[in-house]
Amino acid sequence: MSIRLSNGTEIPIEMHKVRVVQKVRLAPARDRLRAIEEAGYNTFLLRTRDIFLDMLTDSGTNAMTDNQLAAMMQSDDAYAGSESFYKLAGAVKDIFGLEYVLPAHQGRAAEHLLAKTFVKPGHIVPMNYHFTTTKAHFDLAGAKVLELYTDEALNAESDCPFKGNMDLSRLRAALEKAGPENVSFVRMEATTNLIGGQPFSLENLRAVKALVEPLGIFLVVDGSLISENAYFIRQREPGYQDKSILEIIREIMAVADLCYLSGRKSCSVRGGLIATNRKDLYEAIRPWLPVYEGFFTYGGMSSKEVEAMAVGIREMTELEVAGASADAIKYFVGLLRQKKIPVVTPAGGLACHVDAMRFIDHVPQSRYPAGALAAAVYIASGARGMERGSVSMDRDSEGNDVPSDMELLRLAVPRRVYTMSHYQYVADRLEWLYARRRMIGGLEFYEEPPVLRFFAGKMRTIGNWGAELTAAFEKDFGTQC
Ligand SMILES: Cc1ncc(COP(=O)(O)O)c(C=O)c1O
Repeated sequence: MSIRLSNGTEIPIEMHKVRVVQKVRLAPARDRLRAIEEAGYNTFLLRTRDIFLDMLTDSGTNAMTDNQLAAMMQSDDAYAGSESFYKLAGAVKDIFGLEYVLPAHQGRAAEHLLAKTFVKPGHIVPMNYHFTTTKAHFDLAGAKVLELYTDEALNAESDCPFKGNMDLSRLRAALEKAGPENVSFVRMEATTNLIGGQPFSLENLRAVKALVEPLGIFLVVDGSLISENAYFIRQREPGYQDKSILEIIREIMAVADLCYLSGRKSCSVRGGLIATNRKDLYEAIRPWLPVYEGFFTYGGMSSKEVEAMAVGIREMTELEVAGASADAIKYFVGLLRQKKIPVVTPAGGLACHVDAMRFIDHVPQSRYPAGALAAAVYIASGARGMERGSVSMDRDSEGNDVPSDMELLRLAVPRRVYTMSHYQYVADRLEWLYARRRMIGGLEFYEEPPVLRFFAGKMRTIGNWGAELTAAFEKDFGTQC
């Protein structure tokens, strides 16, 4: 929720109080330099003890509620027939309106099951935009991922309310070219992660369904960030202002043939699931669940997480929960815009995304500007963000780098974790860095795994800019922070 102060400023207001806290430490800049060098300039490889504000991701890092924690205490650890599962299935039925549920240990496990069941060599899988693990699974199954976004999607500075929409004419052309028998399914991702947490509209989702249904192709929604997408529909789509988040989520689910999700985001737990009303789809996937995940009533999740997910699904329909990170992101993006720092607009639903191509326009994509900016921001602030650019793209089959459509530094805003002073602090250090952006150079790999290289790859600076930046920081702020 946002609230207007008497001077007219809008601020995000927390509709909760903090009763359990976790201590963090701000290591001095010199220690941060050492840590990022040891991590091969890859923020994934940093240790928590060296991080002040962890803005890598909102995945599994949202604050859990007292109700979720209480539910965890009552979990049923039965290998088969666990009562915790039936609570989850009840929540999926009540909130999503979906009958059949397959739990999975996280979102990518659900993607693996979908790939195993439906994605065949030579198929295409059209989608509004890929997610890293989604693409990896579908590529490994021998299919081609087609990203059929609209022209606005990659426009970093935009006021388009639904940059996560699918381009319908591109979709029509792709389906005609491939032939419906060669389409695994069509996937729409809620609050599209890699282009800045941007939503799709219900109008667009319905239009996609109207296109694919007569061809016998089914529509899959990746609902990892479903409540945030519903929140944006309520704010931005004509006709939805008086609808509840629950009603909007229900409407999305009624259009989709199948939904899968990472429970680590909107549900605020660590787990995942697949849900559908289509018995045929459910029965096709079901045999693989015990092979890859676990028995039908836990699917690789701990029973505690199953319980917490059941509560999380119900709680995500509360307006102040659905909008908690969206409103904080809007505030954070607003601070950065005031300081003229290039960020993705409109503000999205999982993070504030800094546009590295504009922040350090002197660093070419071949030298990984988003990765370099993530490291520089860590040195300047102790805040850990995530590279979402060319480092996050694996090489093609000939071994060539694949330049990403966008070069973004994601500063994730986990739900109900950080406060306004944290955003103000990061915005201040980013302003300092922006004034010295010419100091930031590029990166090159010296260790590079073949798949999902961004997780474990190691890089070094081209030149000595990490140390030079640290020295400039110490000159301005001293050696203690
Ligand atoms: C849209 C989307 N789909 C799938 C996944 C994969 O989920 P998990 O990390 O739980 O495996 C993520 C993770 O961030 C995601 O954002």
